[in-house]
Amino acid sequence: MNAAASPVVAIVTGAGSGIGRAVALALAQRRVTVLAVGRRAAPLHETAAAAGANVLPIACDVADPAGRTTLARLAQDAGGVRYVVHAAGLHRLEPLLAITRDNWRTLMHTNVEARLFLTLELLPVYDSGARVLFVGSNSASRARVSATAYCVSQAASTMLARCLTMELAARGVAVTSAIPSPARTPMVDQQMAADPALYPDALLYRRYREEGKLIAAAAVGKFFSWLLLDLPAGEFSSRDWNIAEGAHHPEWLVNTTLYDQAP
Ligand SMILES: NC(=O)c1ccc[n+]([C@@H]2O[C@H](COP(=O)([O-])OP(=O)(O)OC[C@H]3O[C@@H](n4cnc5c(N)ncnc54)[C@H](OP(=O)(O)O)[C@@H]3O)[C@@H](O)[C@H]2O)c1
Repeated sequence: MNAAASPVVAIVTGAGSGIGRAVALALAQRRVTVLAVGRRAAPLHETAAAAGANVLPIACDVADPAGRTTLARLAQDAGGVRYVVHAAGLHRLEPLLAITRDNWRTLMHTNVEARLFLTLELLPVYDSGARVLFVGSNSASRARVSATAYCVSQAASTMLARCLTMELAARGVAVTSAIPSPARTPMVDQQMAADPALYPDALLYRRYREEGKLIAAAAVGKFFSWLLLDLPAGEFSSRDWNIAEGAHHPEWLVNTTLYDQAP
């Protein structure tokens, strides 16, 4: 049998922009077939055009159970899935005293619940050697004014990844999370544009930009593709990862600029 006949398939959520797009491009470049997922079709088609090949746009909502079922069916049709990257996410600012249930629930559905139930829904279709990567966040451990729902959702997502690491190992599915922060993406651009009276950390991100310390999305793509494709199986899920740690840079930060150069 010709092993090359079966494509290696990845599901990358949030693939229409930012980190998800960068990971989709990095995986496609390494000949992985990427099911690129987001709610809006147009940005996904831009990702596919930028890749040139190996990226299939799938417009669907991961916060909707029907969307997750569609993804599991598509993965089955594709012959199984080897890699899953949970990059879909929402960030919304709301003062704590004006917090709305709608905002709270939307962020929990998208940033936590979707990751849990999509990971589980794919159980029948994982290839052997499957790896699931959660995009982690410093906001899981750093409280930020007007970002309570986001910070809580990130803390929950980090712990969810750890629980899944423990429970899915016996099923041959390796799970971990990796922090890409602070990466230059539409989400961070939106945070930098916020009124500091509402969101004081807008000033922090602006300072990172002025000092050239925002991480390039393409570097995150390369880091994540190294975690998924190159790291020995036991190491991938042995710990949480963080792009800011220099120890692993020599392994993957080759011919790549870590920091974003844009003004
Ligand atoms: N940038 C950073 O420094 C940073 C740091 C820590 C963690 N993160 C996390 O990294 C992830 C990616 O963020 P980003 O910075 O790349 O921001 P981004 O450009 O806003 O990307 C988020 C993506 O998620 C998609 N999305 C949102 N809700 C969705 C849903 N229900 N179903 C499917 N797709 C959905 C969006 O596309 P549609 O609107 O078309 O659906 C969008 O493409 C997020 O989880 C974020 O919390 C980012």
